[in-house]
Amino acid sequence: MLENLKEQAPDKIIELIGLFAADKRVDKLDLGVGVYKNAEGKTPVMRAVKAAEARLLAEQESKSYVGLLGDLSYVEAIRELVLGDSVDVARICGAQEPGGTGAIRQLFELIRAANADATVWISNPSWPNHEAILKYLGMNIGKYRYFDEATCGVDFAGMKADLAAAKAGDVVLLHGCCHNPTGANITQAEWGEITDIALEKGLMPMIDIAYQGFGDGLEEDTNGLRSMAAKVPEMLVAASCSKNFGLYRDRVGAALIISKDAAGTALSKANLAGLNRLNFSFPPDHGAKVVSIIMNDPALKADWMAEVEDIRQEMLTLRKNLAEALRRETNSDRFDFFAEHRGMFSRLGLSPEQVMKLRTDFGIYMVGDSRINIAGLPREGLDKLAKAIASVI
Ligand code: LMR
Repeated sequence: MLENLKEQAPDKIIELIGLFAADKRVDKLDLGVGVYKNAEGKTPVMRAVKAAEARLLAEQESKSYVGLLGDLSYVEAIRELVLGDSVDVARICGAQEPGGTGAIRQLFELIRAANADATVWISNPSWPNHEAILKYLGMNIGKYRYFDEATCGVDFAGMKADLAAAKAGDVVLLHGCCHNPTGANITQAEWGEITDIALEKGLMPMIDIAYQGFGDGLEEDTNGLRSMAAKVPEMLVAASCSKNFGLYRDRVGAALIISKDAAGTALSKANLAGLNRLNFSFPPDHGAKVVSIIMNDPALKADWMAEVEDIRQEMLTLRKNLAEALRRETNSDRFDFFAEHRGMFSRLGLSPEQVMKLRTDFGIYMVGDSRINIAGLPREGLDKLAKAIASVI
């Protein structure tokens, strides 16, 4: 029977982890998967996380089940972090989910259950797993133009023109901040325009926010989605603590739902609990409990916020330094956009052949669309990297 299984194409991002590990060169460079690396090339456990874990180990008295929606103090902390006071809490429910991916998967399933005809509109390009999960679930996919290769900014006119084809009951998926893979983000005014389009056409927004704190600041990165949340009747949010809490492997995410009223909230909540039960019963506790401890302890929270801000500043410096090194090595302003973009990623704009040449000739690993992880850039030796890039263009 098992011979009937279909071959599976490897995930283009995750595949890089194995390819990089197998490369024997000592001066290789991993700019693939989105993971923060410090000056020593390590992905450390954040200070507040270490402290909260020590407390958890000392104080936890039971490993018994928590509940299908997970740790409610964690869900409340994420609601506060992401939505603030933009929406009446009586209209919001949420569930702890295994990572941002887990939240996206559950919310896609919820959309399918509510409206099997809905088309989910994703940006072109988007994080590849958006499309992969939608395809796996057999859902309708629409794509809206997003990135303008010529300006390396958002093609907002194209985005609006494509969303004009969406029908009432469709879902428009937006990246809350730090667009993955392009690093180009819509402005506050553009968030307002998309909100108006959603209201006029009866579209439901779904926001994937996986990099809060890595763009313009923890609070600033929510401005767009909060202004939208304040106006629309219904909205879905998939949040991740993988990056801003560095809890990658612990799988800590949340699905938040804004419903029209309290009765809608009760229905949404029951559906989230049901979906969790059907897929895995209980979300994993450890990482979410750690986040809850941090967010409910003023000193730990302040320390966490300070560390996130340091990481953000470091990425801004790396963006600026890379743009300058590329300007020197290519004698052009072609890569100046790196300093303008925000978040963990930008694309170099190279062909797949050029990406492969960087891998084979220099041991430099990046995703096939030439997306690089800014937080994986070396602190020293950016000129060497810029030289290698210049040699393949
Ligand atoms: C990425 O885009 O590199 C991260 O979100 C990790 C992943 O799961 O793809």
